[in-house]
Amino acid sequence: MLEIAIVYFSAAGATAQLARAVAQGAGDFGAVTLYEIRGAAIVEGRFIDAALLARLDRSGAIIFGSPTYMGGPAAPFKAFADATSERWTGQRWANKVAAGFTCGACPNGDQAATLAYFGVLAAQHGMIWCNLDIPGGIDPQGRNRLGCQAGVVAEIGDGGPQAGDLLTAAYLGRRVARLAGLIGGMAEAR
Ligand SMILES: Cc1cc2nc3c(=O)[nH]c(=O)nc-3n(C[C@H](O)[C@H](O)[C@H](O)COP(=O)(O)O)c2cc1C
Repeated sequence: MLEIAIVYFSAAGATAQLARAVAQGAGDFGAVTLYEIRGAAIVEGRFIDAALLARLDRSGAIIFGSPTYMGGPAAPFKAFADATSERWTGQRWANKVAAGFTCGACPNGDQAATLAYFGVLAAQHGMIWCNLDIPGGIDPQGRNRLGCQAGVVAEIGDGGPQAGDLLTAAYLGRRVARLAGLIGGMAEAR
């Protein structure tokens, strides 16, 4: 069965809420596993979790999530990303589907830079980036209300992610899972 992995860091819980929404959407089309990057897995600046990387090897899609910190992914996510260099040499993740979600305290707090980083990370691995096919600001359900088609951008208010941002996250999860199902086997066939 198609496995979709969601790998994310969250300090205060908003990114975790988005991760659960992505998982709910993806779960309509595949088996979803959520991996939270925890500080305990980072030793002297290095992310160490061989079992997680081995599990990601077997997934058909990997969706990256991190809050935007100072205009980019949070340091724990970057530690995880650096650890994936072990997979880069042999392009072990080539042709898996990739996508991303992020949040910030501002409607435009440079979250797009975090998604751009996720896209470059995916490109380094030869993965296939899945964007959003919802034009910004005009969706009747309020999805992609902030107008970023590279992935999910959320604005975090006092009550956590806005409802439209959670709907966008669920939609992205579904889109990734459907795309991974359509191109299933491409990654294994290399
Ligand atoms: C160190 C730090 C840097 C931050 N930098 C940004 C930023 O560049 N842009 C922004 O919109 N929000 C920024 N924020 C706000 C967080 O992105 C926001 O609180 C987010 O909800 C945190 O996600 P979490 O609840 O999953 O931990 C920053 C927060 C912290 C703690």
